[in-house]
Amino acid sequence: MGAGEGRAADGLAVLFATHYARMFADPRMAVLFDTRHADSNASALEHGTRLAATLMDLWYGTREYASLGRGSSFRNVGRAHARAKRCPLRPNSGTGAPRFSEAQRDAWLGHVLIACEECGASAELQHQIGRFLGSRVNAYGPFRDDD
Ligand code: HEM
Repeated sequence: MGAGEGRAADGLAVLFATHYARMFADPRMAVLFDTRHADSNASALEHGTRLAATLMDLWYGTREYASLGRGSSFRNVGRAHARAKRCPLRPNSGTGAPRFSEAQRDAWLGHVLIACEECGASAELQHQIGRFLGSRVNAYGPFRDDD
C-alpha cells in the first residue's frame, strides 16, 4: 500500500468515527449496541476504523481489515449486524423478526452524510460516499417499520 492510501484509511477512519459518535448520541441508534459484548463495547474511533478498513478493502483492494487482526470483515459485519438487530436495548426487542428499521437505515445514512460535513469532506467525496453506501444499504434489509 502506498503512503497516499495509508492517509486515506486514516482520514476515512476519522470520518466514520464521527459517524459512530453521532450514532451513540442518537437514541434510535444507540440501542443497537449490545455493550455486554467486547466487540460492541468499543470507542467511536475503533468502530470507525473497522468500517473504514472494510470500505478501503472494497474500494482499493487493500488489506486494511486483515491488518486489524480481527479475521474476516465479511464474517464480522454479519455477526455485528445480527447482534445489533437482536440487541435487548431496543424498545421492541424480542418481538417480530430481528431487523433494522427503515428509520434506522435512513438515520444510518444521514449520520454518514452529516459526518462528511462535520469533517469538512469535499462535496464530491460526500456525494461519492453517499451514492455508494446509499446503493448498498438495502442489502441489509428487509427492514421493519418500527424501531
Ligand atoms: C452499506 C451499508 C453498511 C456497511 C458497509 C456496514 C458495515 C459495517 C461494518 C464493517 C461493521 C463493523 C464490523 C466489525 O465489527 O468489524 C458494522 C457494524 C455495525 N453496523 Fe453496519 N454497515 C452498513 C449498514 C448499516 C446499517 C444500515 C445499520 C443500522 C441501521 C448498521 C448498524 C451497525 C451497527 C450498530 C454496528 C455495530 C454493531 C456492534 O459492534 O455491536 N450498519 N457495519
